[in-house]
Amino acid sequence: MKVTLSVIKADIGGYVGHSESHPECIAMGHKLLSEAKKIGKIIDYHVTKCGDDLELIMTHKKGTHSQEIHGLSWDVFVAATEVAKKLKLYGAGQDLLSDAFSGNIKGMGPGVAEMEIEERASEPVIIFMADKTSSGAWNLPLYKMFADPFNTAGLVIGESMHNGFVFEVLDVKENKRVLFNTPEEIYDLLLFIGSPARYMVRNIWHKDTKEISAVSSTQKLSYIAGKYVGKDDPVCIVRCQGNFPAVGEVLEPFAEPTIVEGWMRGSHYGPLMPVSMEDGVPTRFDGPPRVMAYGFQLADGMLVGPRDMFKDISFEPARQKANEMAYMLRKHGPFEPHRLPLEELEYTTLPQVMARLNNRWETNKD
Ligand code: F6R
Ligand code: MG
Ligand code: MG
Repeated sequence: MKVTLSVIKADIGGYVGHSESHPECIAMGHKLLSEAKKIGKIIDYHVTKCGDDLELIMTHKKGTHSQEIHGLSWDVFVAATEVAKKLKLYGAGQDLLSDAFSGNIKGMGPGVAEMEIEERASEPVIIFMADKTSSGAWNLPLYKMFADPFNTAGLVIGESMHNGFVFEVLDVKENKRVLFNTPEEIYDLLLFIGSPARYMVRNIWHKDTKEISAVSSTQKLSYIAGKYVGKDDPVCIVRCQGNFPAVGEVLEPFAEPTIVEGWMRGSHYGPLMPVSMEDGVPTRFDGPPRVMAYGFQLADGMLVGPRDMFKDISFEPARQKANEMAYMLRKHGPFEPHRLPLEELEYTTLPQVMARLNNRWETNKD
């Protein structure tokens, strides 16, 4: 059976500040999506939050880029924004960059990750949701899951994965894409995805079967809006087991926290901390960045779950390590490498400061 899994998210208002979503906004999501389920528009759904982002997880039969499903998500975000406005939540409607829905929610602010799949006899998927970071944050973990044999034993000893995967990399500045075959082209691949602010892994396919294996949201709010309007706070869907990495291989990259951009004012690097839903509430210096992992078994399109995968106590050391890394970076205050380099601040509040000081810079005659 063909089924589409759509994960669409937006920050429609924070409670308190940018730290969390309000239960009433989540309840509005439930209300509208349960109505859509009743009339058969969607098969099933789960509404949750990661930090200040409202996350809509939906299954349906309408394929990717469906105007109907994108429109439904838009309506949920608009209705939840009304709730946020009533409660005077912070930044109500901040990710809805347009007044009216124009057919495709991509480019309008919300983040989107979708895949249409032939549901297998058993279909375990993991949905990653992050706050206070950008889509490039998935580059390193996706590389490890699908191309690094030190992470994914199945690449070496699993017959079904031995030939590798195809990575689609998006250049978000030039709006171009390129495909890399792994393992043959991993050095070329790494050259680009090692710069995650510009090059982002968007899709991964199984090389032999061509099955879609992983998909991430690559909407970059700063490029859409032309100025800083908040962090992208991306999502990512990964299929597991069989032809794909095992659940444990998919989660393993997060056992070693990496440094990502997006902390405080979208202008600082911080460690990506794997957390359970209860701990997906970034408060220290508006962070540090968080990632949650929800596991589902699909059953004829029904979402059996979620299992809160990072609740596992074996991720405790990673959280501990991330906290230590946070202290180390925080010591630098406004200095790199905590603060982003100037080029990366192009779309934050920095341009206004630069413009104000422009006339005071004199040519150095010494
Ligand atoms: C939001 C974020 C926060 C804000 C900061 C300032 O995702 O990362 O760190 O950038 O709280 O927010 P404003 O400019 O809305 O007062
Ligand atoms: Mg916010
Ligand atoms: Mg957010």
